[in-house]
Amino acid sequence: MTPLTSADIDAVCTLVDDLCGIAWDGSKAYLIESRLGNLVTRHGCAGYADLARKTRARLIPGLVDEVVNAVTTNETLWFRDQSLFQALQHKLLPEKLDEKVGSLHPKRLRMWSAACSTGQEPYSLAMTFAELVPDWDTWDVQIVGTDISPAALEHARRGWYGELEMSRGMDEIRLRKYFVRQENGWQVRPEILRMCRFRQHNLQQSFTGFSDLDFIFCRNVAIYFRADGRSRLFEKLSHALAPTGWLIVGAAESLTDLGPQWQPIMHCRACCYQPNGFRVNSPVERSSSS
Ligand SMILES: C[S@@+](CC[C@H](N)C(=O)[O-])C[C@H]1O[C@@H](n2cnc3c(N)ncnc32)[C@H](O)[C@@H]1O
Repeated sequence: MTPLTSADIDAVCTLVDDLCGIAWDGSKAYLIESRLGNLVTRHGCAGYADLARKTRARLIPGLVDEVVNAVTTNETLWFRDQSLFQALQHKLLPEKLDEKVGSLHPKRLRMWSAACSTGQEPYSLAMTFAELVPDWDTWDVQIVGTDISPAALEHARRGWYGELEMSRGMDEIRLRKYFVRQENGWQVRPEILRMCRFRQHNLQQSFTGFSDLDFIFCRNVAIYFRADGRSRLFEKLSHALAPTGWLIVGAAESLTDLGPQWQPIMHCRACCYQPNGFRVNSPVERSSSS
């Protein structure tokens, strides 16, 4: 393989930004080589810039998907960030269910796991709901998992996980309760699968079809975006939420720099955001107490 030139780096970084909004620069040369070297060889490209050109021109069927799969980082685990799941179980979900009593749709719950990777996040949410609500099968619950990576989504839809994946955050009790042993791994039970839907969606693009959501989980993805893409993303997400909907980001992420509607509300040591509650309820009170 020919060494990376600065033209290669420019071509690949611009491509990755255009396709996914992911901010790569010259410091990511090692990533370019380790993630895309194989594609350059397999598709007979003259180099990385040529791979970028062929991808843009859609000269090779499926190449865009292959590049997206290669450049995205799908790191995830079950019940990632214990404090968030404590907050959901003890505060956010019970209050949301109470709020629904007497409403137009008293048994309807809508959650969006944006950038769901291989599905552990949406399935963990489904299990949390099932544990909290004894008659959960009488509810109209939809947990939509979206991601830009077709390979991650295929994995999520299948709902089958190997031993290594199961060892990352899944406890013995839930393992027995929500999975069936199958083919050297574990298959999510149909009743949990049924609560979750998956589809491809690029967070840099339009959010048509996402509205009035009770919860949005957008965790550990905006860290890969540039500052302008990140603020546009959270602005759009706020419009997809119901007036009292909650937005949850990753444990190490903070949105306070985005303005007063993004002051965190702490529950069980988890940082939660209610950007429209700020507008609907008492903005003056909120901003003066923050
Ligand atoms: C580190 S994983 C986070 C998974 C999960 N939310 C969690 O916190 O465990 C980041 C995910 O973001 C997805 N991603 C990256 N850019 C994206 C974009 N522009 N639109 C949608 N998903 C994207 C990747 O494919 C990857 O699966």
